Amino acid sequence: MSGHPPSTYEPKTGIERWLDARLPIVRLAVDLMDFPTPKNLNYWWTFGGILAVCLVTQIVTGVILAMHYVPNADMAFNSVEHIMRDVNYGWLVRYIHANGASMFFLAVYIHMARGMYYGSYKAPREVLWLLGCIIYLLMMATAFMGYVLPWGQMSFAGAVVITSLFSAFDQVIPGLGTAITTWLWGGFAVGGATLNRFFSLHYLLPFMIAGVVVLHIWALHVPGNNNPTGVEVKSKQDTLPFHPYYTVKDGFAIVAFFVLFAWFVFFAPEALGHVDNQTPANPLVTPAHIVPEWYFLPFYAILRSIPQKLFGVLAMFGSIGMLFALPWLDTSKVKSMRYRPSARIFFLLFVATTVLLGWCGGKEPDDMVMTMGHTATGDPTGFSVVWFSRILAVYYFAYFLLVLPILGLRETPTQVPANISTPVLGGAAMPAGSAAQAEKKG
Ligand code: HEM
Repeated sequence: MSGHPPSTYEPKTGIERWLDARLPIVRLAVDLMDFPTPKNLNYWWTFGGILAVCLVTQIVTGVILAMHYVPNADMAFNSVEHIMRDVNYGWLVRYIHANGASMFFLAVYIHMARGMYYGSYKAPREVLWLLGCIIYLLMMATAFMGYVLPWGQMSFAGAVVITSLFSAFDQVIPGLGTAITTWLWGGFAVGGATLNRFFSLHYLLPFMIAGVVVLHIWALHVPGNNNPTGVEVKSKQDTLPFHPYYTVKDGFAIVAFFVLFAWFVFFAPEALGHVDNQTPANPLVTPAHIVPEWYFLPFYAILRSIPQKLFGVLAMFGSIGMLFALPWLDTSKVKSMRYRPSARIFFLLFVATTVLLGWCGGKEPDDMVMTMGHTATGDPTGFSVVWFSRILAVYYFAYFLLVLPILGLRETPTQVPANISTPVLGGAAMPAGSAAQAEKKG
């Protein structure tokens, strides 16, 4: 069973019939609400809705901030201070926007991990997954450029470090990397021209994300949702209408998520930021320790784990590129890791590896994970962060390139249920039409 069932919408009034014959938008909304959704979706499936609310929150607060922000190298920092101190509730709008970026990434990482665990990227949902990967790339570009806008010390340093990565291409064709960075900067250094174009693109990209999200939902509605069993919907018994069942469940999760969000905004609004960004950008003073925002740290650790610049850059982009290849790297016929005990262990190790890579990204490469002694000058020696990052990076790539392709061919999965209803009802067969009642019993 896939795709939308025949429309159940019947326009009642004359005006409804008139509109339906010209632009069946009410029909679309009603059909979306009636969409048959697997009845066994757990709370990990609420993050798509949470992400949609995050995107709207970022756009609304961003548009308000843009009314007061000035994308000029001499005025940007002060315009942000003006928002914080003079604009009515400007502090609130800015803190929602700044912490909202972190909450957006938190939700997207959970959403992606859910997809990886339950095999939602596998046929017939590969395009849905690829569109998600494109959204993720756009999110990263948007967040990176947004962080540059307050024009603090870390904004400036981050812009220099990341754009300069492209200069590594000088090692492929001499002059190519320099040409790319000069083009990106709009000059011979990060400066006013860079700031202005980053503002322009930071305003544009969220609307492009919104466009790709529409495609993402479209691609979801062709095969329908995956579910925790990974077994496709077989009959009407396996589903419930999206409304009211999942509007209520998603609504509850959105409220819970926003409680956490509000805690950051009201009690720890600077906790996820960096103190160096409270100082205006000064090209003559480089911060002692340049760190990106937390959501980029695993990739930053992979970049720094390789001393050769070009290979470091390629490994960093490659680590994100792995996600695009995922549907074709996993050879298992069983979607959900609920029935793949060995895959589950490797997946948990992968999650732990990514978190630890993030921890490494926030440390100095020469910091010690384990100190074993000291040099004559008193410097600690032992197992350093850069070595730890290397080991973790090897597992990160091995998970995609070795574990998933080989494990799918060699593992023995446990018994996969014949349909969604079997595990929900503990094996009892269910008479047609009693799906809603069964869901109520849990
Ligand atoms: C702005 C960001 C995003 C929004 C608003 C969004 C929205 C949604 C929504 C509403 C759903 C259906 C409900 C659910 O399954 O949670 C969904 C499903 C899905 N999304 Fe996303 N998504 C976003 C980003 C991503 C990313 C970055 C990926 C992966 C790289 C991704 C992969 C998927 C997959 C595979 C499904 C199908 C899940 C299933 O049925 O098992 N999404 N998304």
